Amino acid sequence: MKVTCLVDNAVQARSSLWGEHGLAFLIEVQGRRVLFDTGASGTVLVHNLLQMNTLPNSMTALALSHAHYDHTGGLGVFLELRPGLPLYAHPDLLRERFSRRDKDVKAVGLRLTEPSLRRLADLRLSAAAQEILPGVWTTGEIAERPEPEGRSPHHCVRDANGWAPDSYQDDMALVLDSPAGLVLVCGCCHAGLLNTLTHVQRTFGRDPAAILGGTHLGDADQAHLRRLIEVLRPLGPPALFPNHCTGQAAYVTLAEAFGERVAPCPAGTVLEL
Ligand SMILES: [Fe+2]
Ligand SMILES: [Fe+2]
Repeated sequence: MKVTCLVDNAVQARSSLWGEHGLAFLIEVQGRRVLFDTGASGTVLVHNLLQMNTLPNSMTALALSHAHYDHTGGLGVFLELRPGLPLYAHPDLLRERFSRRDKDVKAVGLRLTEPSLRRLADLRLSAAAQEILPGVWTTGEIAERPEPEGRSPHHCVRDANGWAPDSYQDDMALVLDSPAGLVLVCGCCHAGLLNTLTHVQRTFGRDPAAILGGTHLGDADQAHLRRLIEVLRPLGPPALFPNHCTGQAAYVTLAEAFGERVAPCPAGTVLEL
């Protein structure tokens, strides 16, 4: 099993890949390929795929962590190149999402309409965990969230009463059952990393040996980070490859706690599992 970070805010030194505020991973299992998220633009996604000698039409399936544009912005361009691809996500993916600062409102969700998405992809939307390929699963909905979530005060949705905070019901991660143990691949982890870890333990019966991706700890205070460290330490700790929306301060705190168990994961990072 091989996992490649295809798109991230940062790019490996001397790499020909392009970076942007977004995320995409490529997961390869026995010659079959799953794309997890599509970055913020088709331009960066396709450029980086071609730089990695990966043709869009070689993909077996696509999974989306949540609706935000920095994870779904490349979707339209990608699906035009690989129409009919099975697409795994939570049903709430299709809901409109916004970012609101005073009177400035921006749409930050899917740019494709539901009819275009249904025309371009074989939609497999479910709140339950789904097996995409042998050993490659969506987590399903992280329904229980007693611990702090990875939220932004600006993210909102529209309901019958007007604006409401986005509950990020669509937020999911992937779980890879690799020879090295379970690997948790996060998109933005708006559901909260601690909540996601508990959900993985309950759903898959084991704790992850490695955690990759965006963990949305930028706004986490020191008490939350200490609690996260307390939970992670007895799990090994897992090897941590935080990127995208993790936040510099959280990265440093985790690295101080766990030393070499923590490593950056810019675009171009390849992990053989
Ligand atoms: Fe997000
Ligand atoms: Fe994100």
